[in-house]
Amino acid sequence: MSNKNPIGLFDSGIGGTSIWKEIHSLLPLENTIYLADSKNAPYGVKSKDEIIELSIKNTEFLLNKNCKLIVVACNTATTNAIKELREKYKVPFIGIEPAIKPAADKTKTHTIGILATKGTLNSELFHTNVANFSDVKIIEQIGHGLVQLIENGDINSNEMMLLLKSYIKPMLEQNIDYLVLGCSHYPYLIPQIKKIIPLHVKIIDSGEAVAKQTQNILNQYSINNETQGTSFNHFYTNSNSAVLKEILKNRYIVWEKEF
Ligand code: DGL
Repeated sequence: MSNKNPIGLFDSGIGGTSIWKEIHSLLPLENTIYLADSKNAPYGVKSKDEIIELSIKNTEFLLNKNCKLIVVACNTATTNAIKELREKYKVPFIGIEPAIKPAADKTKTHTIGILATKGTLNSELFHTNVANFSDVKIIEQIGHGLVQLIENGDINSNEMMLLLKSYIKPMLEQNIDYLVLGCSHYPYLIPQIKKIIPLHVKIIDSGEAVAKQTQNILNQYSINNETQGTSFNHFYTNSNSAVLKEILKNRYIVWEKEF
């Protein structure tokens, strides 16, 4: 394994590119391969067994491309499958989970909201995590339909605004001052969410923390790529490459193929 081997990332679709952007900006010399399993999105409504099976398929794809480390850039896959992935493969895995801790530490109203998929909110890992914050009121809301709209490129649609309002307004009525985005697709909705929440309510997502953790793991295993000026960033999707290209502002090559 060479330090030039890529970092692999996968998500149920295009959402994990929000994590990729943070990693690429912190670690620009690293080669990366991103896999968008858009054909099978959304993962959030699937059973734990289905999510494990898809996560194994995605991992095999990235290992076949010689990835030195894998970022599970999906809360739903992390909370349902990362334990099984770590048991099955030797490569280091980094997962993403809703950032409850920073919100719980900072809240003044002792009330925070979490918007995530059904698969994440119902997972054992999420329940274990939530149990550590019993002094804070945590309002959980499933983001039904949001991932599909993002995957279809309908981020700016009326339907999106209506759904977001219906999920966020009840949380505001309960006096949240932090809104945790527990799905890697949702950072793409921040401009829309900001139109709904008052200024004192802060949005938290996990992208930066995952990038820092990726840096820590590269350091720990001494597998950083320090070669200047040669990094590549490859994107693969099994459906609707136009939306992925658009979200990447057409700056990178995207391959659409079966996997
Ligand atoms: N980006 C995935 C996540 O972070 C979305 C899951 C889905 O496909 O429902 O949870």
